[in-house]
Amino acid sequence: MNNIIPHTFHIQRNDRAELKGHGSLVIWFTGLSGSGKSTLANRVEKKLFDLKYHTFSLDGDNIRRGLNKNLGFSREDRIENLRRIAEVARLFIESGNLVIASFISPLKKDRDLVRNIVGTGNFVEVFVNTPLEVCEKRDVKGLYKKARAGEIKNFTGIDAPYENPMSPDIEVKTDEEGVEEAAERIVVFLKNKLKLIENE
Ligand SMILES: Nc1ncnc2c1ncn2[C@@H]1O[C@H](COP(=O)(O)OP(=O)(O)OP(=O)(O)O)[C@@H](O)[C@H]1O
Ligand SMILES: [Mg+2]
Repeated sequence: MNNIIPHTFHIQRNDRAELKGHGSLVIWFTGLSGSGKSTLANRVEKKLFDLKYHTFSLDGDNIRRGLNKNLGFSREDRIENLRRIAEVARLFIESGNLVIASFISPLKKDRDLVRNIVGTGNFVEVFVNTPLEVCEKRDVKGLYKKARAGEIKNFTGIDAPYENPMSPDIEVKTDEEGVEEAAERIVVFLKNKLKLIENE
């Protein structure tokens, strides 16, 4: 580490913000499998894109197929999974994007790690709060069925814990609020937050 001396580049985050006309953030969706993270993320990104914001989505399964394909679901690997994702998110923030991240991220400690890596002021936490029964009934990927049958171990909500965020920036109860309505609420929140950053 001692011999690693990072180079400082002339073009910085604020230069990119000026060029793009907006600041950058991570919008972090957390919740059980099937809670609706990817569905909401997709809708939010489309809305932001249509408003001409520069966005990029990071999503659990996509990352696990590529960058993190050597990682499993042990405690150690879950931490490393999120650490790498947080570092990638940080790069995308530096590049001036609104990063839309959808990861179960079940433990508070791990979400805190992400928040610390990307920087508290850059982190918007969205708790996709859908009761386990509803997620299990949806069973979009058929994984709950497999977990109940013992074919998948350490499955969040079944035999691995999910810790609810204590004070998320936004909470969506998807059994009470539709996708469109929630996505609009999130976009309004983000627009306001970006305005506040701009005036700092
Ligand atoms: N209000 C809502 N918000 C989001 N999703 C909803 C809502 N109502 C119903 N759904 C449905 O719930 C399912 C959520 O699946 P989705 O793949 O988005 O979950 P996920 O949280 O990304 O799960 P995973 O962690 O396994 O990737 C979708 O089929 C979606 O259509
Ligand atoms: Mg998903």
